[in-house]
Amino acid sequence: MIVTIQRDEPVAVITLNRPDVLNAINAAMLDELEAALIGFRSDDGVRVVILTGAGDKAFAAGADIAELAAQTATSGREFALRGQRVFDLVEGLGKPVIAAINGYALGGGCELAMACTLRLAADTARLGQPEITLGLMPGYGGSYRLARLVGKTKSMELLLTGAPISATEAERIGLVTRVVPAVELMTAARALADKLARNAPIAMRYILDAVNRGLEMSTAEASALEATLFGLAMATDDMREGTAAFLEKRAPAFKGR
Ligand code: COA
Repeated sequence: MIVTIQRDEPVAVITLNRPDVLNAINAAMLDELEAALIGFRSDDGVRVVILTGAGDKAFAAGADIAELAAQTATSGREFALRGQRVFDLVEGLGKPVIAAINGYALGGGCELAMACTLRLAADTARLGQPEITLGLMPGYGGSYRLARLVGKTKSMELLLTGAPISATEAERIGLVTRVVPAVELMTAARALADKLARNAPIAMRYILDAVNRGLEMSTAEASALEATLFGLAMATDDMREGTAAFLEKRAPAFKGR
């Protein structure tokens, strides 16, 4: 398998598994990633997904350059749309996806990490968008997700120079959530996933929706969406449980209803 899956409720781990080519993302990997995501989207036993790369060198060193080199104008457009669709599935999964960045996250690898909800990076990781050094530009969401995450100034520098940055620098500019020692990466990712999995899943889904969609909207539209989702959260058993647990000074037990 090019993408391996480990399901350990309430968390699932998806591993990009082409370590010989630094987990470069080819068409078959996109197909398998899409199938795994569609499975987890409707799997209520899985509350949080961790996405990582096989081996200790790379999360993913980009789209497969051998496949890229063979594209024409027409197929190149389809190539970009295909990757964008799969990465949109990551962003719109309705549950948090944690990127555990265990090494190089370059090009499509960085774009995939950016589609995730949160990003933990090993202190050995390097991130960047080197497409320009291939005479190319990002095609899997990098031009807009990077700017939305780190702002125009730093995204222009990363996109136009193509030079990768360290995990520490990525944390400083807001590209990753947190840097951890490489040996502790998966433990830290699992601890974060378990923490998220204890929270109310419907409210988490609404937060994901409010933030992701809110970023695309005017303030007036985002306010209206937020108020609607806030109202819907009031209708959940988990809201009753969470508020009752606080007033009764006990830990809440959320059921996802
Ligand atoms: N697509 C296809 N193959 C890739 C790849 C990619 N994006 N990135 C790495 N590989 C392959 C290499 O060709 C090499 O294969 P080989 O053993 O058959 O020669 C193998 O992975 C190991 O990579 P190598 O370059 O030898 O490792 P390194 O440690 O010297 O360098 C990188 C690591 C990440 C700096 C370097 O591999 C690199 O620059 N990769 C491309 C990054 C990129 O431009 N990504 C954006 C694509 S749009």
